[in-house]
Amino acid sequence: MRDNLLRVLRLGAIIALGVALLSCGKREGGGKEEGESEKGLVVGFSQVGAESAWRTAETTSMQEEAAKRGIALKFSDAQGKQEKQIQALRAFIAQGVDAIILAPVVETGWEPALKEAKAASIPVVLVDRGIEVADESLYATLIASDFILEGKMAAEWLAKKMNGTAGIVELQGTPGAAPAIDRKAGFEQGIAQYPGMQIIASQSGDFRRSNGKEVMEAFLKIHGKKINALYAHNDDMAIGAIQAIEEAGLKPGEDIIVVSVDAVKGAFEAMVAGKLNCTVECNPLLGPLAFDAVEKILAGQTLPKRIVIEDRVFDQSAAKDVIGTRKY
Ligand code: AHR
Repeated sequence: MRDNLLRVLRLGAIIALGVALLSCGKREGGGKEEGESEKGLVVGFSQVGAESAWRTAETTSMQEEAAKRGIALKFSDAQGKQEKQIQALRAFIAQGVDAIILAPVVETGWEPALKEAKAASIPVVLVDRGIEVADESLYATLIASDFILEGKMAAEWLAKKMNGTAGIVELQGTPGAAPAIDRKAGFEQGIAQYPGMQIIASQSGDFRRSNGKEVMEAFLKIHGKKINALYAHNDDMAIGAIQAIEEAGLKPGEDIIVVSVDAVKGAFEAMVAGKLNCTVECNPLLGPLAFDAVEKILAGQTLPKRIVIEDRVFDQSAAKDVIGTRKY
């Protein structure tokens, strides 16, 4: 009887010790679980994809900033598809994240998912690209560059370089995306005062290097010597097009003047090599501003609906001096 009691007590002690060791191991030796946060904050980030060097730099900036602040980041790459972004938003809502950061691939079609986020009291911070919604209360703020101004700056630089006369081909970004729509509009406004500056062909290269090359090959076949300038909505497409120009036996940067947008490292390298003439900056390092916004909103502050990033123009004359200082 006494022996049985002792056996039961010993077994109980062993079980209690085991449970204590297991829970201890979880806290001390288990490392950070996915979604665990030092501050207890969980943020979902729905990213467009990885179509360009700019996009990759933006993703890294978000991830680094979240880690720096001890915020758990749930990252979703939509591979350029709006349906996948909407799915990601719904998953974030179901998981009960504290806030959502959204870089929307296109401008329209966001109302239903944003209404669901609002109903769940989850604030949404838009980064990089704007959207069209009737009800602006569906998002807290938009942190982005002024894409119309970028297009205008490219046009002004080009008009000066070409003395007001050029046969221009244009490589547009993703159809329906704010930077494609606005950079086109801004460029057209910018060249409007120069009757000699004519866009002779314009097509989407989806912000991708390979597409930029393909479309430029087609432009060169159809329009040949009529082309003396290229305006690309991003550097990646310009770099692809530069390859096409070289393969056609022409000199990019001389036979065809090339201006693009983003100011990524690859653009500076192409400028130093004399193949790209000018790039208009579009800063992708939005992590610090995005998480400032999230933390302020969660602390009860109201932010301006639009936070504008200021950008500059760089051409070959500055490239060598500046290339070493570029952060993306
Ligand atoms: O929305 C910003 C644009 O998207 C960048 O200019 C381009 O490179 C990217 O893919």
